[in-house]
Amino acid sequence: MDNTDILIAPEIKITLSNCLPPADSSEMTADIITGLTSLPPYIPSRFFYDKRGSALFEEITRLPEYYPARTEKEILSDSASRIINDIEYADIVELGSGDCSKISILLDAMPPGRRRSVKYIPVDVSRSAILKSAETLSRKYPEISIHGMLADFLKHLGDIPGENRKIICFFGSTIGNLDPVQTSRFLLNISSEMREGDQLLLGLDMVKDIRVLEDAYNDTQGVTAAFNRNILNVVNRYAKTNFDPLLFDHLAFYNKTESRIEMHLKAMEGLDIASEYLPDPVHFEKGETIHTENSRKFTARNTGEISELTGLKLYEVYSDNRRWFSLLHLIK
Ligand code: AVJ
Repeated sequence: MDNTDILIAPEIKITLSNCLPPADSSEMTADIITGLTSLPPYIPSRFFYDKRGSALFEEITRLPEYYPARTEKEILSDSASRIINDIEYADIVELGSGDCSKISILLDAMPPGRRRSVKYIPVDVSRSAILKSAETLSRKYPEISIHGMLADFLKHLGDIPGENRKIICFFGSTIGNLDPVQTSRFLLNISSEMREGDQLLLGLDMVKDIRVLEDAYNDTQGVTAAFNRNILNVVNRYAKTNFDPLLFDHLAFYNKTESRIEMHLKAMEGLDIASEYLPDPVHFEKGETIHTENSRKFTARNTGEISELTGLKLYEVYSDNRRWFSLLHLIK
């Protein structure tokens, strides 16, 4: 891990720790090749978030159909004073921070004096997302110090600086990308990194009417389709392939048995994907799919299981009127 001070603008300086392997490293390519040659083929979801993918995701959060982001922000606004009640002299760590709109809601609710006592630590795989949000936040709240971490939160939790009291924010129901086994492992990992008094804010998208769920991942403007297909541009870069992402169709549906939205890319015609990293080209028949994402939806029972599993105390569950989204406030 290397630490650098970055001058974003004459008056804005942040520290950035880079825990990721270099973009040209074989590790990233190997992860893509492994997925493409597995049966069924998949691409790890973290590869969605290159510069274009992060911008497309931000656009998704503004779509009328994509209720999760809007609902969670509504919950944060309505409950901000309760949520931040006990946050002072602490490091606010945001996992998968993306843009800074959610943390802004909490910072807005703090008196400036209290804001001066906190440090914001955004953790994201996207350098552009970290720099952009650091700039926006510093302009809005010059009194806040920022330490960005370019990292994969599944692998680098242990690299997060640990001297101060921590408020770990994992918003957006991003935890829904993990399967139940990975979820347990990850939550145990988080709670073992926490010390007594540290807090965890965990956003969970809840099971609801299947039409609402499926519409959120099949918007009429095709932004989610573009976001899904963009992962193939990332594949082309890392695997040095050069097939046309438009040969694949966006597919998103609710899998009721697994309580999750699944996103896939479906070949619209037969094609071969050749790469210098592959002994033989990978062949796709028309109709064959690549699995790109799971987005698990949770029940009230799951929220109980999560607090039990982590051994953390469930201090509060904040929600909206329709109970579409939950924000768990857990304390060690
Ligand atoms: C950022 C993982 C929470 O699962 O809803 C949005 C990503 N994928 N539309 C989600 C996403 C398609 C999003 N998370």
